[in-house]
Amino acid sequence: MLRAAGVEVEARPGALEGRELVEAVRGASILGIRSRSRVDAEVLAAAPELLAIGCFCIGTNQVDLGVAAAHGVPVFNSPFGNTRSVAELTLAEIVMLLRGVFDRSTELHRGIWRKTAEGAREVRGRTLGIVGYGHIGSQLSVLAESLGMHVVFFDIDHRLPLGNAVALGSLEELLERSDVVSLHVPETDLTRGMIGAPEIARMRRGAILVNNARGSLVDLDAAADSLRRGHLRGIAADVFPNEPESNGPGFATPLAGAPNSILTPHVGGSTEEAQEAIGRDVAEKLLRHAIGGSTRGAVNVPEVDLPRRREGAHRILHFHRNVPGVLGRMHTLLASRGINITAEYLQSDAHLSYVILEVDPADAEVVRRDLASVPETIRVRTLWD
Ligand code: NAI
Repeated sequence: MLRAAGVEVEARPGALEGRELVEAVRGASILGIRSRSRVDAEVLAAAPELLAIGCFCIGTNQVDLGVAAAHGVPVFNSPFGNTRSVAELTLAEIVMLLRGVFDRSTELHRGIWRKTAEGAREVRGRTLGIVGYGHIGSQLSVLAESLGMHVVFFDIDHRLPLGNAVALGSLEELLERSDVVSLHVPETDLTRGMIGAPEIARMRRGAILVNNARGSLVDLDAAADSLRRGHLRGIAADVFPNEPESNGPGFATPLAGAPNSILTPHVGGSTEEAQEAIGRDVAEKLLRHAIGGSTRGAVNVPEVDLPRRREGAHRILHFHRNVPGVLGRMHTLLASRGINITAEYLQSDAHLSYVILEVDPADAEVVRRDLASVPETIRVRTLWD
């Protein structure tokens, strides 16, 4: 997508770090990284021409977002590129856990034939309780209903129930009513430790718990204990409180060896389709910024979704520190020259303002210089055909 839009792309395999990254980014207008390349003040200082950073992944922790914003460099990511992948895995795990398939499989690997229907249930007719009805939770809701599950959900925000799903008023009610409880909330002060021993005790005997969201949500000691006592009948966990930085042996969890447990190493969103969706999503956001100035989807600067530029007009993009009076001074400066602004867009946060002006081509250079002379200016750039 970037090449097709005329961007000269230099692709480097592997995650660049430290000096390597500083050298690579010199002279670049756009930097694309994945989760392991750290972009700090040193990297940003080495790349004054940098217009935007694209994190071709879900998170943006690897970038010093404040410093990037202070340079007028928007950072883009793809928070929802893997939604469907997580929803699919979750549904598959629910089927496997209700049938006890992993235990049967492990036994057979060990040469033990144990054909039994005991405790094995269809998903049809079971009640699925979804905690967090956002992108993943609502997708799961649709998929689960198509298999005949009854869906109830609890969300702290008002969410439109899809299909026949029913919104409940509390987590407690959801825990009591569900055969399967699946967590799809972010990690926050409210959600950390939201499923501990008391909540597990509140769940139905024989219920199943799925945590494909964040490792800190569930007390794993309590969950393992409940599985061994036979209160919980199964668990799927894709996320853990302390996840290793790199692949290899040595991982330990209280759930290891617990009955009817599916443990996966944070691969819920890891599919080729998700990788492609992330690539497309971030490339599109970068192009919209590079070509049109849009900051829609940026995580560190005010978001402005811009319409197409008026034919022939020049568009001037101006990032400045948000202190009182700047906008007034800018307008006075332009008014004193009798310059007509044909379109103006503005968005601010506590530290930064992003102003976009469209002017006639004849005025563009004067306006650019005027704006650049404002002391609070961080970056000014002109777009034209
Ligand atoms: P989202 O932001 O679209 O939805 C989260 C929902 O949780 C929102 O509707 C929000 O109102 C609700 N919520 C927040 N606090 C709550 C609380 N205390 N009680 C009830 N509801 C609450 O997020 P999305 O994309 O659906 O992701 C959900 C989770 O899945 C996140 O924790 C995310 O990190 C995780 N995830 C895991 C992946 C994996 O590989 N296993 C991949 C992608 C996301």
